[in-house]
Amino acid sequence: MKNKLAIHGGPSIVPDGLKNIWPEITQADKDAVLGVLESNILTGGVHGPEAAELETEWARYNDSKFALAFNSGTAALHTALFAAGVEPGDEVITSAFSFSGSYNPVLQQHAIPIFVDIDPRTFNLDVNQIENKITSRTKVIMPVHIHGLPADMDEVCSLAEKHRLVVVEDACQAHGATYKGKNAGTIGDMGCFSLNATKNLSGGEGGLMLTDNDAYVSRAKMFRTFGEKEGDEQDKFRSYESHTMGYNYRLQELPAAFTRSQLKRLSDYNEIAVRNGNYLSEELGKIHGLIPPYVPSDRTTLYHKYRLCFDPEALGLTIPATVFRNRLVDALEAEGVATCLWQTKPMPAYRIFQSLDSDYGTGHPWRSPFYDEDIRYDPEEYPETSRVLDTSLCVNTEKHAITVQSLETMELYVAAFHKVFDNLDLLMD
Ligand SMILES: Cc1ncc(COP(=O)(O)O)c(C=O)c1O
Repeated sequence: MKNKLAIHGGPSIVPDGLKNIWPEITQADKDAVLGVLESNILTGGVHGPEAAELETEWARYNDSKFALAFNSGTAALHTALFAAGVEPGDEVITSAFSFSGSYNPVLQQHAIPIFVDIDPRTFNLDVNQIENKITSRTKVIMPVHIHGLPADMDEVCSLAEKHRLVVVEDACQAHGATYKGKNAGTIGDMGCFSLNATKNLSGGEGGLMLTDNDAYVSRAKMFRTFGEKEGDEQDKFRSYESHTMGYNYRLQELPAAFTRSQLKRLSDYNEIAVRNGNYLSEELGKIHGLIPPYVPSDRTTLYHKYRLCFDPEALGLTIPATVFRNRLVDALEAEGVATCLWQTKPMPAYRIFQSLDSDYGTGHPWRSPFYDEDIRYDPEEYPETSRVLDTSLCVNTEKHAITVQSLETMELYVAAFHKVFDNLDLLMD
């Protein structure tokens, strides 16, 4: 009776209310936000003081020359693509496994995303498949440091150098992760981060960009603020004149202040995530058929999502892997383990790429005058992404990130896995 699975009416392993909620909001965070309200400065004509301070602090944290703040990671990526000179009809090479926030900025620039399958060990784009996707239209390679693990940046950067391409890192999940001692987002030409509430550095919503290049900074600043040239004079002598088409991508003061307060604890959160992730890998790796995430020795991860794979053959599955995966999620969740899938297919299999349709209704940008290739996105071209997603789950949810859980909770997670895997035959009925 003691071992009866919780989905079958048995007691759960992880008690209700034990899991901590992400993001953690402290009194200091509340004081920071209240401080903004009391100051009565909610934004700047060009940029507010909290956003400006956040830029200074983020540049310092990453040992980068410049940081720019935005109202989302998507806005930061869109701006970086503009700064890189991406124009309608250009191609941007990126990973087939990410979030729509990676390819939408490409489409927003009326450019064409070209997807690369993943390396099934790191879940990052397979650098061996990049070169034969490069054409005369390619402008940017955009590696995504998925789940907080940096991509193979040496290979990405040397291909970019060889073909004179710009590297824009999608570091939206990788705040403070390192590759050969350098922070993610500082290795390519520009690196972009999300401050969405689920991220290790949270502002509710928001984004950041890093670069060492002055020219990219001035193009990015124009794009962020209505195409205006931001001068040192800021508000007083603001000209209001647009020099290019621009957006309103400025970060507001309330999330900027909240992010600055959270940034003081980012390294601590990352340490907790690494401790918990390593512990899970050590313990869950002992369960036959489970494959913990791989972290090459030259880089660190944040386990922004802790993705655990299973081997259908080793487990002797008698049902399709995806059916088993979903039952496993249900069983673990009933035991109180925070689990989710987070993406179920390669992004090129999404409807937008299958119908080559979009909100424009005319098949833009694929059938625009700027692009005369007959492009097709074949989901079969990304077998490793499909296989990984069919045979894995994430041991955390947006609300219950491992970034903020105690070791005791991780021990109970492991106990729950053992309980479920001791009763595996029940999931295959
Ligand atoms: C890998 C990746 N790229 C881009 C984004 C877009 O960031 P945002 O949601 O802040 O626009 C996200 C986050 O949601 C992400 O996880």
